[in-house]
Amino acid sequence: MKKKLLDYLACPSCGESFRLSAVTREEGIEVMEGELECAGCKQVVEIRRGIPRFADLAEVEVEKQATAEKFGWSWQTFSHEDEKYAEEFLGWIAPVRPEFFGGKIVLEGGCGKGRHTRRVAQWGAQDIVAVDLSAAVEVAFAATQGVENAHVIQADIYHLPLQRVFDYAFSVGVLHHLPDPRGGFKSLVSKVKSGGHVSAWVYGAENNGWIVKFVNPVRERLTSRMNPRLLFHLSKVPTAMVYAASKLFYGPLNRNPRGAAIARHSFYNDYMNFVSQFNWREQHLIVFDHLVAPTSFYISRAEFESWWKEVDAQEVIIGWHNRNSWRGFGRVD
Ligand SMILES: C[S@@+](CC[C@H](N)C(=O)[O-])C[C@H]1O[C@@H](n2cnc3c(N)ncnc32)[C@H](O)[C@@H]1O
Ligand SMILES: [Zn+2]
Repeated sequence: MKKKLLDYLACPSCGESFRLSAVTREEGIEVMEGELECAGCKQVVEIRRGIPRFADLAEVEVEKQATAEKFGWSWQTFSHEDEKYAEEFLGWIAPVRPEFFGGKIVLEGGCGKGRHTRRVAQWGAQDIVAVDLSAAVEVAFAATQGVENAHVIQADIYHLPLQRVFDYAFSVGVLHHLPDPRGGFKSLVSKVKSGGHVSAWVYGAENNGWIVKFVNPVRERLTSRMNPRLLFHLSKVPTAMVYAASKLFYGPLNRNPRGAAIARHSFYNDYMNFVSQFNWREQHLIVFDHLVAPTSFYISRAEFESWWKEVDAQEVIIGWHNRNSWRGFGRVD
């Protein structure tokens, strides 16, 4: 933890600031082991392996705990980097471009392995505070250790230990895995200051009927409950099918001007064409990620729009991503 993080923290119980009450080990600019103490209610928060631990997985609700356990395992296993991550990220947060981040104080809700945290820091944010409930924070911390403007904390998105000081908050692929996606969105927005902006990307209900009907029952009853190591190996079978279809059919067809007309009418074309750019490891992660989550909601455009209305966001832009998910961007007043 860098000491600068203190500027952004606020006690989730009483709203007061935290002070660094103990430092037992430092490494460069990082406090690796120590304690934070709330100036108001005197609550103590441990800093372990460089990360302030605002959430204790043993104490959160069972549903959140199950989700965090699975994603913690997933990101610690799929901790690789991929050169395509920057473009992919920009697709999820469009119309935001790298220049947008310059000088901004940014909040990331559910950072996973920190693949986006790193980039936002490189793109010139004043600071980014990345939050995740799971052990994925260990990977996100490793990815940003010593990076002056990147901060990682372990916390529940519903109880953010932060002040309302952020210029921009984003959440990519997280809200639909929460027990109450709308509540998670509102919690994130509550930390954005007046005039700041928000981006969110969620699974869509539209065009995903086949997943809801055929994949969800298998995920809910079987794959999200099994040992993740076993699922890691079993999921190579559907990955092989996706890999073959995307690399041999969808990718080549979409790249061919005459083939593109046929491709457009093929099943799940936009998404399969998108997936075709990725190598085996990344496709395995994508398939595994879909099967491992204990909770996944598929959100309709109408439902998604209502979230933005509820927080009274202005100039909201909602659009398709690969015709199977929704991304939104708007201003908070
Ligand atoms: C599909 S991953 C996406 C991670 C990252 N945004 C990315 O795109 O690489 C969902 C993440 O949400 C996190 N998460 C789930 N429930 C959460 C909660 N209640 N509070 C904070 N993070 C949570 C999980 O631990 C996981 O890392
Ligand atoms: Zn307090």
